[in-house]
Amino acid sequence: MSSAAQLILHHLFWCSLIQLSLLTKLSGAETITVTTNGETIEESPQPAAAEHVEEVITPIVTDPGRMRLVQIDPVEVGHIRRIEIEPGHFYEMKTVAVNPPVFLVPDFLTLEECERIKSLAQEKGLEKSRTVLRHSVDQAVDTNLDPYFNKDTFTKFDEDGNQFLNIAEARKALTYVEGIGNMSDQAFTYFIDIVVDLDSDRFLSDLEFRRIPLIMTKISEWIANHQDLEKWDPDDLARMKKGPDRLSHQVWMKRPVYDESKNITNRLIGLTGLHPDIINTSEELQVVHYTPGGHYHAHHDSTNFIADRPCSHTAHLYPPDPTRHLHSARICRYMTVLYYLADTEEGGETAFPAADNETFSESTMVKDNKTIEPSNLSMHCKDANLYVRPKKRMAVMWYNHFFDHNTGWMGDRNLFAFHGGCDVIKGEKWIANNWINVDNNYEIQMKFHYESLHKTDEPVINADITPKAAETTEDQKSPPDQTEQEQLHNAEGESIKSEENVVQLKQEL
Ligand code: OGA
Ligand code: CA
Ligand code: FE2
Repeated sequence: MSSAAQLILHHLFWCSLIQLSLLTKLSGAETITVTTNGETIEESPQPAAAEHVEEVITPIVTDPGRMRLVQIDPVEVGHIRRIEIEPGHFYEMKTVAVNPPVFLVPDFLTLEECERIKSLAQEKGLEKSRTVLRHSVDQAVDTNLDPYFNKDTFTKFDEDGNQFLNIAEARKALTYVEGIGNMSDQAFTYFIDIVVDLDSDRFLSDLEFRRIPLIMTKISEWIANHQDLEKWDPDDLARMKKGPDRLSHQVWMKRPVYDESKNITNRLIGLTGLHPDIINTSEELQVVHYTPGGHYHAHHDSTNFIADRPCSHTAHLYPPDPTRHLHSARICRYMTVLYYLADTEEGGETAFPAADNETFSESTMVKDNKTIEPSNLSMHCKDANLYVRPKKRMAVMWYNHFFDHNTGWMGDRNLFAFHGGCDVIKGEKWIANNWINVDNNYEIQMKFHYESLHKTDEPVINADITPKAAETTEDQKSPPDQTEQEQLHNAEGESIKSEENVVQLKQEL
């Protein structure tokens, strides 16, 4: 065969291969489903080429001495960008809401990355998602206020030996508490759910049981005020109907474990356009697993700005404040990047009840002439203005805060970023959260970067010695040792310092 003929054949071979893969891609069930204002769009990830805008999202550094945040312009719902995140590798990013800006990136993770993160999470072991710190309770419990509530009593009432007290077992174990005996079964179930069950799994763990003496005042008050279901505060009843706020299992993963060569992290830097220091010092990855019935009612990922309450990730950098313990720290998350690690057979949508909804209020919303409580996603998932169906490999990215154009820094929290996870109906749901932490206080955030990225185990004897500069790159590869504050933060994703703050934070988050 002549070399020219060989070349033609070779060419034909590659063309047919390319065509074949294109056809598979177009004919496959590769669709993303998004519902905005009741209109469902099912589409292949190959939309009209005319809509494409190729872009590189670059960190804005106008004054090299001053870092600025980036907030990508959503343009309009349906707008599609092609962003070159890695040289020569374009990712599609689609706007699905303008306020807050919400974007979908269908092919953000590779299949291998999804599988790897899930198996690493399972290896490490997922725990029930809670709203209170386990170890803070553990420490307090050891003061042993009432010896009845110890491990032995717990074991005695755990008749089936499964390490949990179900409602019937709990009822027997708690007849010891005054007033419990007269409660109706329904009231007792509500009591367990609201007052005693920290992780909302409707069982009492030994930790929850041993914690009881610590909240005895609250318990007595609650029992006194809730003897009669008819006399219940309508808010309490509404809350009960809604069920536990968060029903899932979760685990935190360290970057060097799930992203050894920093592929995902670098992609995230490219996607967000944020300065690498911000991404590199943000929270670890949180992996969450939901089974049927699992959900996360609508909430905010970031706490509103409140004077005197420092951000939990930087609290240790503020000047010492003797009244600090009186204020729980805020969680400061400029943005959320959520990945779906699996497809879910039915349900499990990520819902944004308030997205692009001008007349939204968190407590009530009027939909089809009915007044509903939008945070209750078990009942009102599909009343949300925007809900996104889980799709393996896809990233959903949104801004929890506004961008202040004057300062180039983080503005107020955007109330429209209210969101949550709907009930899984069939199959499982696996997600991972990358929260991007930013302090409203620019100087403190810069201190935080410096401290996190330059901290070494050995004391710096002479900071001027040049070889140190080379080590800096190395430092950035592995995340800094966690401060105590970060450990608290990471233990639960929510920093809660005292019992009184629990309710308040539960509502906020
Ligand atoms: C969260 C969250 C949404 C979802 O974990 O904070 O909002 O779809 N999850 O699971
Ligand atoms: Ca429990
Ligand atoms: Fe969330």
